[in-house]
Amino acid sequence: MARPAKLCIAMVGLPAMGKSTVAAKIKENLEKDDIKVGIFNNGDVRRRMVAGNTSHAGFYNPDNADAAALRERIAAVSIAEAKAYLTAEGQIAILDATNVSRKRRETLRQSMAPHPILFIECINDDPELLALSVARKTRLPEFAHLPQDEAAKSFFSRIGYYRHIYAPADEAGNLVRLDTLNNRIIAERVHSDVPHYGRIRDLLMSDWIKNLFLVRHAESEYNLENRVGGDSSLTEKGRRMAWALSRHFIGTPLPYVFTSTLTRTREMAEPLLETRKGTTIHHAFKEFDEIDVGECDGLSYAEMERARPELFAARARNKYNFVYPGGEGYATMAGRVYRGIKKAIYLSGNSEYIMIIGHQAVNRMILSDFLFRRAEDVPYIFIPQDKYFHIVSTQSKKLFELRKF
Ligand code: F6P
Repeated sequence: MARPAKLCIAMVGLPAMGKSTVAAKIKENLEKDDIKVGIFNNGDVRRRMVAGNTSHAGFYNPDNADAAALRERIAAVSIAEAKAYLTAEGQIAILDATNVSRKRRETLRQSMAPHPILFIECINDDPELLALSVARKTRLPEFAHLPQDEAAKSFFSRIGYYRHIYAPADEAGNLVRLDTLNNRIIAERVHSDVPHYGRIRDLLMSDWIKNLFLVRHAESEYNLENRVGGDSSLTEKGRRMAWALSRHFIGTPLPYVFTSTLTRTREMAEPLLETRKGTTIHHAFKEFDEIDVGECDGLSYAEMERARPELFAARARNKYNFVYPGGEGYATMAGRVYRGIKKAIYLSGNSEYIMIIGHQAVNRMILSDFLFRRAEDVPYIFIPQDKYFHIVSTQSKKLFELRKF
């Protein structure tokens, strides 16, 4: 019987483009089907082989001949380990490195023969995301000796050096070019002999949300008076609920908590963050701010109906497409909310658990990204303040559960 074909996957891309997350996603998912996948990360080999500090940008300067030679040796070790893995029991070896030069890719092709290589080139041109990803990188232990801003500067210079030698992988026989923020395949040329490609392709386009807890802030001062807009605080009862939320998740590691920039969601996150100092990273995104009600800001629904009866009626007739004068509507806020979700998923990488604390309209829009609802029904999805949605969305599992805290 013919032995099953083996595959080498080589990641391609500048640092902080999401390559390691893609590699982990392939490994974790294919291993569920007993396919043996190994990740060979040049950074890990570097930390193992070189005793001194290699996190400074100068180490990546192509004009630094000693460092360049050392980096070649590191790559050679990684390639040799991947090859040995495929020769033994491994079925897929993923080379998680930048592989941005043609020369390096040519070496890979020669070294890995006769195994086919699938190049996965990761692209993310979003400057905000890049800055946030770099901030995440600089929290790694190898940057602990530097203040955060210097570490970020050093990391950006490292990226700059790689940019100089970067040649897009157009020459590759098997290439998928992936927009890693949107899980979108931008270019694809893959021969039929690449094993498991159908499965891998589907993975690349799929969300990978292991556990998302979607929470709405608890009772705010404005909620008490049925007012829209504003930036009010939680009530006493709301604060108690914030502590209840924190208690409910006591045994769950939450490396990332995302809120809007508004006071009520930040206050909702406060107990969680206070009790998890150093283990939970908090990002406040404008993308998750509540619907902008424009000229109606601060009004109660009763006041709105009295003062602007036509507006109130138009909203009731077509709530999804209605746009508040000077503000937003459900339809017009969709783009920014979806971008917020993509940002949160991208930044949290392969985290097991993440939480988003949002608002009524925002959470409806977030849910609409996962649940099938007709657009006209989205503005009526019930969003309680004492329950959260537990969402799992992976290639092999979809889960939706409303739970009390
Ligand atoms: O009432 C709370 C609130 O979050 C308001 O700030 C927002 O305008 C409203 O809910 C959105 O819900 P609806 O579209 O049903 O008015």
